[in-house]
Amino acid sequence: MFITLEGPEGSGKSSQLPDLADFLRRTGYNVLTTREPGGTPIGDQVRSVLLDKENTTMQPRTEILLFQASRSQLVDQVIRPHLEKGGLVLCDRYADSTLAYQGFGYGRDINELRAIINFATGGLKPDLTLLLDVDVEVGLTRRQKGGDVNRLDIFELTFHQNVRRGYHRLAQAEPQRWVTIDAGQPPERVQREIRKIILDRLRAKE
Ligand code: TYD
Repeated sequence: MFITLEGPEGSGKSSQLPDLADFLRRTGYNVLTTREPGGTPIGDQVRSVLLDKENTTMQPRTEILLFQASRSQLVDQVIRPHLEKGGLVLCDRYADSTLAYQGFGYGRDINELRAIINFATGGLKPDLTLLLDVDVEVGLTRRQKGGDVNRLDIFELTFHQNVRRGYHRLAQAEPQRWVTIDAGQPPERVQREIRKIILDRLRAKE
């Protein structure tokens, strides 16, 4: 099963993932965790180009293609092989991030992006996507407190609000794949909710 975590900045995805993976491993699942952009040696090199604050001249189409380059490498080198072995993949961001950020955030054509994503992933879609939904200002404040601010964090508030609204639209359009979680709750409660949702899905499949 292929599970992705999505959400706006500061939604806490990345800090929830290790505990979640440990829990699922203890429960007996063969879990592989990864993240985007990155997750492979080539993808990590692409990631540093994408997030480098010095790269102020990066063009929107360049950015879109670099995200897909990192993604296609990750799908072929890491995600598909693990799924083929019957494993469980947990991925911090995936194709929906391109639709939310480059599509809804920048207002680029969604269908055009879907075609590029389809090429990059060979059509691989998640079985379940968890949206860790948090108010944009709350999320950005969390990020700034963590001192971990990247090139995409410094865009203005409306951009991030459009990203969040984009996620809501994506989730509404495919309710069987998406589950939305209130990530404004204390982290322990978010973790409990995520575990329950995933276990229910896994058990329904067995
Ligand atoms: P990262 O530091 O991993 O942020 P986060 O902890 O929020 O996941 O940086 C990834 C950034 O790249 C984040 O701002 C979202 C953005 N992004 C896109 O714009 N498009 C994409 O396709 C992906 C995968 C990420």
